[in-house]
Amino acid sequence: MSTGRGPPARHQSLRASRPQSTRACRHEHGAQAAGPPSGQRGASRRQPLRASRPPSTQACRHEHGARAAGPPSGQRGASRRQPLRASRPPSMRTGPPACYHTTQALITIILLMAQRILIIGAGGHAQVVADILSQAAANGGEYHPIGYLDDDPRRHGQQVLGLPVLGPVTALADIPHDGIVIAIGDNRTRARLFIELTARGEQLVSAIHPSAIIAAGVTIGPGTMICAGAIINPGSVIGANVILNTGCTVDHHNQIGDHAHLAPGVHTGGEVVIGAGALIGIGAIVMPRRRVGAWSVAGAGALVQRDVADETVVAGVPARPL
Ligand SMILES: CC(C)(COP(=O)(O)OP(=O)(O)OC[C@H]1O[C@@H](n2cnc3c(N)ncnc32)[C@H](O)[C@@H]1OP(=O)(O)O)[C@@H](O)C(=O)NCCC(=O)NCCS
Repeated sequence: MSTGRGPPARHQSLRASRPQSTRACRHEHGAQAAGPPSGQRGASRRQPLRASRPPSTQACRHEHGARAAGPPSGQRGASRRQPLRASRPPSMRTGPPACYHTTQALITIILLMAQRILIIGAGGHAQVVADILSQAAANGGEYHPIGYLDDDPRRHGQQVLGLPVLGPVTALADIPHDGIVIAIGDNRTRARLFIELTARGEQLVSAIHPSAIIAAGVTIGPGTMICAGAIINPGSVIGANVILNTGCTVDHHNQIGDHAHLAPGVHTGGEVVIGAGALIGIGAIVMPRRRVGAWSVAGAGALVQRDVADETVVAGVPARPL
């Protein structure tokens, strides 16, 4: 369940929505991973993220920087642990700089505005999604991962990359959140969950690594994941619930269908069409203007020189049906 904030923009970049000076860091996201205490379930869906942090929460680099300015002047000398302050020049011993409270206020406002994202799945692929969301948040993105949901009971209660596995997917209804990413590599399973959870009103958000290069005007559907180093050139249309994996390149005017997966290192030429649910295996190349049919597979390392029909597995150089 989500808060009904409306669907995300078609191309919602995670990278540029926040001023540089107010960026958070991964420590904060790890702290948020603790999620809401069970007693808060069902409470307001717009709870301040700070309210649920444990006392041991680490603050971000900027908060550290702000804290380095020390406590208000009235508290000077009260703490026994002030090794840094002792060696500072007198000009820095007169209390926090003028920007201290402004910075703190900005950080608080941003955390209140942050969108809490649940990751569906807690396997290897989900960890890549968690990392992307954390990296994006550290670069000013608005989405903050708060934990995973996974139907494998052995994972419940575990910490994965500093985020908790909070329960099965059915727990979505009980955990306050603002959006989800379905982090399951298998295209058919991911498509099924996308259809089911969208029908229940869940807001699918896109996870885009800060290092991805996306041309202006490219459209990206909800729930799509774009990994580190991926490049998308002008005129391309990326569907919903797609995976553009690490270092893949999508040249100009491609159409990538919903639920498709371009594995790491895939390269497509211009005007390529990848059908819904198709898997293009690791390192494969799709020649310009070729079409790979819906739910087809191009094997790892394949060179797709000819169109591939729907639901067909091809492999090799040049690629031929298996
Ligand atoms: C093409 C693929 C789907 C075939 O899987 P499969 O149906 O289980 O096929 P098998 O492993 O039984 O192999 C069947 C034959 O195809 C060959 N083959 C399998 N994959 C091949 C590939 N990528 N390129 C060339 N030949 C391949 C095998 O050597 C075997 O040949 P043989 O009959 O002469 O011994 C699979 O090998 C593949 O490449 N999947 C993509 C994986 C991937 O990149 N995932 C993304 C993860 S992020």
